[in-house]
Amino acid sequence: MMYITLTHHFGVFEKPYICCWYLLKNLAKMVSANIIVVLLLLEVLVTSGFNFVANGLSMNYYAMNCPLAEFVVKNSVNKALQADPTLAAGLVRMHFHDCFIEGCDSSVLIDSTKDNTAEKDSPANLSLRGYEIIDDAKQQLEQQCPGVVSCADIVAMAARDAIFWAGGPVYDIPKGRKDGRMSKIQDTIKLPAPTFNASDLIRIFGQHGFTAREMVALSGAHTLGVARCSSFKSRLSSVSDPNMDSEFAKVLSKTCSGGDNAEQPLDATRNTFDNIYYNALLKKSGVLFSDQTLLSNAITRSVVNGYALNQAMFFFDFQQAMVKMGLLDVKEGSKGEVRLNCRKIN
Ligand code: HEM
Ligand SMILES: *[C@@H]1O[C@H](CO)[C@@H](O)[C@H](O)[C@H]1NC(C)=O
Ligand SMILES: *[C@@H]1O[C@H](CO)[C@@H](O)[C@H](O)[C@H]1NC(C)=O
Repeated sequence: MMYITLTHHFGVFEKPYICCWYLLKNLAKMVSANIIVVLLLLEVLVTSGFNFVANGLSMNYYAMNCPLAEFVVKNSVNKALQADPTLAAGLVRMHFHDCFIEGCDSSVLIDSTKDNTAEKDSPANLSLRGYEIIDDAKQQLEQQCPGVVSCADIVAMAARDAIFWAGGPVYDIPKGRKDGRMSKIQDTIKLPAPTFNASDLIRIFGQHGFTAREMVALSGAHTLGVARCSSFKSRLSSVSDPNMDSEFAKVLSKTCSGGDNAEQPLDATRNTFDNIYYNALLKKSGVLFSDQTLLSNAITRSVVNGYALNQAMFFFDFQQAMVKMGLLDVKEGSKGEVRLNCRKIN
């Protein structure tokens, strides 16, 4: 049965793809226990073609030389999130920080060395989490297809899988990013601060090519995760912030009675990807100043209103904006490398 199906599908490939037999035979060996996976992969190969998107990236970049790349990453993510659902937020945030500094090149993963203090060790590393998940996926991928899958792609795929795992939209992303060769603490100054107002946010996201609408959609990532008191306590000193619900102010103050590192969920459902974040903004219950400010600007307010009413619209815009974010200053060819250990340049 399997043989017949293979032959049948294979007929679709014309001569140039004969080369794939060898690969498919190996693939079949690798996953001999799981015929379904082979058939699924074949479907992917047959139906999606090799559409290049940008910068030499493509949806099926690894189809030939590491066909199980997506499965391996998804497995690592699912396994880790089953054990600790709060890490979904960590993975999504990691991808954002990676892309906003030096492009999506996994510079965020580099450990500091004697001679260099990396992004990671900035106070603005803002409690990034989930590095072990990337290491786990990388280790398995190095066994399966050494030197092929970049850490930058793993970070991008892991963020995407975390969003889906948490109940968010499912979407395909282009792959083929190369890993960067530097990571400098001083570059983290390029990240937006939680004290930014709407016009600051529109400007800084605009510098990366995003519209105000896309910025509001991306801020919706704060439907996942937490902020530490140190990120919002400045909002509590002014006696009555007209942009904050007075009951909610008490909640935040109570959290901060636990100290600077005490955690406040960014919305009522910290492990679920939904539009509750936007509804919280309408109730003046945004945790960060940079969240609540989206309601005080006419342009961003109308977008917040739309997403609060229509989750499907939020999901649609969010996935598009994430794909766009994932293409920021991507390195290709000799401008980057495929790191063998995500924490160290080769
Ligand atoms: C609009 C500008 C943004 C600002 C000013 C901002 C700032 C922050 C701050 C201050 C925190 C809390 C960190 C802490 O206290 O430990 C946070 C958390 C988070 N941010 Fe953002 N962020 C922004 C945009 C984004 C974007 C675009 C994404 C992803 C697409 C994102 C994803 C997250 C996630 C998932 C968390 C929770 C992390 C966790 O629970 O570990 N943020 N952000
Ligand atoms: C973040 O930076 C601080 C120093 O500001 C450091 O102590 C901490 O280990 C860093 N966190 C991570 C996850 O690298
Ligand atoms: C936003 O903050 C900037 C400083 O970061 C300030 O110059 C500007 O006036 C503020 N805009 C509004 C609308 O409050």
